[in-house]
Amino acid sequence: MAGTPRLIRVAGDPVLHQPCRQVTSFDAELGELIDDMFASMAVAEGVGLAAPQVGVDLAVFVYDCFDAAGQRHVGHVVNPTIETSGEPEEHDEGCLSVPGPYHELARPTLATVRGVDRTGASVEVTGTGFFARCLQHETDHLRGVLYIDHLPRNRRRRVLREMEPFEWNA
Ligand code: NI
Repeated sequence: MAGTPRLIRVAGDPVLHQPCRQVTSFDAELGELIDDMFASMAVAEGVGLAAPQVGVDLAVFVYDCFDAAGQRHVGHVVNPTIETSGEPEEHDEGCLSVPGPYHELARPTLATVRGVDRTGASVEVTGTGFFARCLQHETDHLRGVLYIDHLPRNRRRRVLREMEPFEWNA
C-alpha cells in the first residue's frame, strides 16, 4: 500500500461529530486520501476507518474485515448509503477514535452499502456478522455518529472516561 499513516482523531474533535460532505472530485487527492486511510487502518490494526477519523470531512470509508462465514473483505466506499436487515445482535464494539474501551451494542446482522469507488464507478457491498457491524459503524461515522452515541448517556460517559491514547497515535 502506497499510503502514509495519518493521525487518528479522537472523540471530542469536531470533525468526528458533524456530517461529512459528499465527494464530487474523483481526483488524485481522493486516491491519496484512500491510500493513507488504508495505511492508517493497518498501523492501528483496525477493521474499518472513516475519513473524518483522519480529519477529512468527506464521505469515504475503508474496511478490512471478516464476515460471519470467516471471509475477509477489503475495500473502500465513497458516498455510501446503507440498508440493514436481520435481527439485531449484541456484540462488543470499539472504535479507533474512542481508543481503549469496548461496549456491547445491538446491530442488525445484515447490511448492504451502495456507493461509488475512487474512480466514481458504482459499488455494492453486502456484509454479514462482524462485517455488517463494521459497515454500519463506518457509515455512522460519515453522519457524525460514533458507536457510543447509540448508548445510554451514563454508559457513554463511562466509556469516554475509560479512553486512553494508543501508543501508535501518541
Ligand atoms: Ni469508529
